[in-house]
Amino acid sequence: MKLAVVGATGEVGRMMLKKLEEEAITPEEIDLFSSSRSAGSLMKFAGKSIEVRELREDSLRRDYDYVLFSAGASVSKTFAPLAASCGAVVIDNSSAFRQSEEIPLVVPEINGCLLKGYRGIVANPNCSTIQMVLSLHKIHRRFDLKTIVVSTYQAVSGAGNRGIVELERQEAGSQDQAVFVRKIHRNVVPVIGDILENSFSAEEMKMINETRKILGDSKVSIWPTTVRVPVAHGHSEAVFCETEKPFELEELKEELRASEDVVLTDERFTPVEIAGSDLVYVSRVRSFDSHRFLLWNVADNIRVGAATNAVRILKMHAGGA
Ligand SMILES: NC(=O)c1ccc[n+]([C@@H]2O[C@H](COP(=O)([O-])OP(=O)(O)OC[C@H]3O[C@@H](n4cnc5c(N)ncnc54)[C@H](OP(=O)(O)O)[C@@H]3O)[C@@H](O)[C@H]2O)c1
Repeated sequence: MKLAVVGATGEVGRMMLKKLEEEAITPEEIDLFSSSRSAGSLMKFAGKSIEVRELREDSLRRDYDYVLFSAGASVSKTFAPLAASCGAVVIDNSSAFRQSEEIPLVVPEINGCLLKGYRGIVANPNCSTIQMVLSLHKIHRRFDLKTIVVSTYQAVSGAGNRGIVELERQEAGSQDQAVFVRKIHRNVVPVIGDILENSFSAEEMKMINETRKILGDSKVSIWPTTVRVPVAHGHSEAVFCETEKPFELEELKEELRASEDVVLTDERFTPVEIAGSDLVYVSRVRSFDSHRFLLWNVADNIRVGAATNAVRILKMHAGGA
């Protein structure tokens, strides 16, 4: 296998390399790309030291089997179609193609069947969407979700390396504020991404549109409030749902227990405990009646919400889906 990673030095890029090693996916050839800032630095992969190169116009004009992108939407828009036109299957972590009708938006445990025989660009969903749909897709299939109201508690690493650095600097006393719209240390910030014309944030609209596309159901009514919290790794979500069909609480739990890569637990897991895990932890499932319920879910945003999902896509595709 010949593989390239674009954005290899970033939070998601580094985790994708780690995850490839964990899965024992060691391509015969691997090229790592970044911007000019990190070009020339050395990264370790599968026991070897690899020099990171600056991504240039002709970098991806090669016969790669897979190219993993995690360098932001504008880089993906320019370079992903080019890599795909040279025959590579592109797995893109950015938002560039998620809403394009012809591009599959894949969470392997839910709609991995879309990968069978597919060539071209595959979009990896937004981090907060992945952990929510992993928790809800089987419940949706059985009880038909009518409404989802979700409040997120999102880690600063969701904003990339700059997000972590900004929190650490503020913890050390700095007043500098460039990444988040308000001070993040000892605070919560109820805006992630730009505020759009309809007053929802870009992150909230991603959760709405991507959840509908992955569930294959445009009728689900979704009401997110996305919030940044001073946590390094791990997003949490308080989710309220209303179903069309009546359920027993135990039936909901059955669906959660049957959901791949989801753990239903009585432990009240917090981000600190689950950072580094590839699973979604669901707890506090509760209800007063047969049509409405609440749950709490927590997952590592860089893993479950990005790198692990991307590598699971690669693995499933390479295995013939
Ligand atoms: N963090 C998350 O939880 C998460 C979750 C889901 C999706 N994503 C998406 O994944 C992507 C990367 O996020 P991240 O958190 O890893 O960000 P990050 O830590 O800021 O890393 C960005 C990476 O992109 C590279 N890069 C920037 N501009 C470039 C250019 N013009 N050409 C080539 N490489 C360039 C950077 O290289 P340098 O080292 O040279 O700066 C770095 O390797 C984004 O699209 C983000 O939306 C992130």
